[in-house]
Amino acid sequence: MKILFASSEAYPLVKTGGLADVAGALPVALTQSGHDIRLIVPAYPQVLHTARDITLLTPLGELISGHPGQLLAARMPDSDLRLILVECPTLFERTGGPYSGADGMDWPDNHLRFAFFSMAAALVAGGATGAGWSADILHANDWQTGLAPAYLRFLGAPNTRAVFTIHNMRYQGLFPPEVMAELELPRIAFNIEGLEFHGQLSMLKAGLAFADRITTVSPTYAEEILRPEFAYGMEGLLNARRRDLTGVLNGIDEAAWNPGTDRNLPETYGLDDLSGKAACKSTLQRELGLAADPDAPLFSMVTRLTEQKGIDLVVSIIPQLVELGAQVAVLGAGDAHWEYVLRTLPVAADRMVARLGYDEALAHRFIAGADMFLMPSRFEPCGLTQMYAMRYGTLPVVRRTGGLADTVSEAGFIPARGSSGTGFLFDESSPEALFEAAAKGVDMFADKRAWRLAQSHAMQQDFSWARAADEYAWIYKVLAPHSAANEKKTRGEAA
Ligand code: ADP
Ligand code: GLC
Repeated sequence: MKILFASSEAYPLVKTGGLADVAGALPVALTQSGHDIRLIVPAYPQVLHTARDITLLTPLGELISGHPGQLLAARMPDSDLRLILVECPTLFERTGGPYSGADGMDWPDNHLRFAFFSMAAALVAGGATGAGWSADILHANDWQTGLAPAYLRFLGAPNTRAVFTIHNMRYQGLFPPEVMAELELPRIAFNIEGLEFHGQLSMLKAGLAFADRITTVSPTYAEEILRPEFAYGMEGLLNARRRDLTGVLNGIDEAAWNPGTDRNLPETYGLDDLSGKAACKSTLQRELGLAADPDAPLFSMVTRLTEQKGIDLVVSIIPQLVELGAQVAVLGAGDAHWEYVLRTLPVAADRMVARLGYDEALAHRFIAGADMFLMPSRFEPCGLTQMYAMRYGTLPVVRRTGGLADTVSEAGFIPARGSSGTGFLFDESSPEALFEAAAKGVDMFADKRAWRLAQSHAMQQDFSWARAADEYAWIYKVLAPHSAANEKKTRGEAA
C-alpha cells in the first residue's frame, strides 16, 4: 500500500513533543512491513539543515494566499525513510519553533502555514502534483494537518482515503471565521458538520469531520474523548463517529531508547546487569548537585510544563517527598509561570533540582539515572516517557488515565510470586493521591528484592512499534479504495 504520513514535526528533524517521536518512528516501522510510505513535513530551517539527499521534486505554485512553494524530496538522516518537504520560504523559513516564535507567541499566520502544508499533503496524496506518486492513504495527525482530509474531499481524490489521528484533543487549531476566505475551501465547508466550531474555524474538527477513519493513540483515551471532560465540546461529533474511531497504542523507538546502547549515558546497562544504572544515578546526582546517595530514592520528571502534565501536583508534594528522604529532579520547558515556580521553590538544592529548557540528551540521563518517574497527568492521550522510563528500569508513578492506564500496571508484593507490576498508579487528580502513590514507591524501593523484580518486569514490557504498525496497516487495508474488503462491499452493494 502507498501511504503519505503528514506531520508538522518529526524526530530527529524537528520536535516539540511526542508527535515528533511518533512521526519519526511509525513510518519506519510501516516501511519495514513492506509498505511504500513517505513522510511529508514542512521545510522549516531545522528540517532543511538535518534532512539528507535533498533534491527538487516539483514546483507547487501559489497554493494559499499568494505564497509560492515547491516540493523537495529527501531522506531521514538516520534511516532510509523517504521524505517530502513542503518548502514555502515566506511561511516556513523563520527562526523559532514550528508553531511559535522565540518570544513564545504563536506565529500570527499559523492558519496560512498549516493550510498550505495540509493542501500540499492532499495534492501529493491525490496525485495532483508533478511528484510522480500518489497515495492510497493520507494519514494526517493533529490540528496542524486537520485540513488535509477536507482538501482531499473538496479537491477531489477518488483513489485516496484519509485517516486522522488525534494525539491531543486540547489543541483545537481555532481561528476566527474570517480566515475561511483565505483557505481555498468552499463556503459550504464552514458549517456545523464541517469546520465550524462555536462560530470559529477549527482545524482539529476538520480532521474529525472529513477523515474516513479517526484514530487516537491509546484505547483508554479513545473511550475518554467520548466524554465532555476530555473532548472540550467535540464529544458530540466523536460520538456520532464512534464506529469510525479506534485507539491504537503508540510504540516507542527501541533503537533511540535502549539502555544497552544509549550514547547519552555515562554507562549503558541491561536487564542482567544493572550496575550501569547505578552509575547513571550517581553521575546524574553529581551533575545536578544532588547529595551523592545511592539509597535516596530519586524521582525524575521530563516534561512540557503545562497543566496537562500535573506539574502543579508535583510541585505541591516536593517538600513531603524530600522529608521522606527522596530526591526530585525536573527537566521541563514551557509555561513561564511554572518555570518561575520551579526556579524559586524553597527546597534544599541537594534534594531538588529543576533544569529548565529542552534538552534531548539530558532527557535520556534523567530517565536512566532516576529510580522513579513522575507523570501525574490530568489527561494523557498516550504518553511516551512512561514507556521510556520502564524500558530503563525506572518505575513510573502515574495517574490512571489515557495511555498511562494502558501501559502501567500496579507494582506490588505477591507472597507466592515476589513482586509484579511495573509502576505506581493513583486515580484522583490531587496532591494527596499522588503523594500516596509516590510513597508506596519509596517503601518498595527499600525492599531491594521486590524492587529488582518490578524493574525487571518493567524492562521486559513489549512497547515495540511493530505491533502498532500492524494495527495501522490493518486499518489502511480495510479503508483503501481497492482493498479486497472494499471490493467485496461494492460487489455486495451492486448485487
Ligand atoms: P507530550 O507529547 O504530551 O509532550 P509524550 O510523553 O508523548 O508527551 O512525549 C514527550 C516527548 O518529548 C518525549 O520524547 C520526551 O522525552 C520529550 N520531552 C518533553 N519535555 C522535554 C524536555 N524538557 N527536554 C527534552 N525532551 C523533552
Ligand atoms: C501528544 C500527547 C501524548 C502522546 C503524543 C504522541 O503530545 O500529549 O500523550 O504520547 O501526542 O502520540
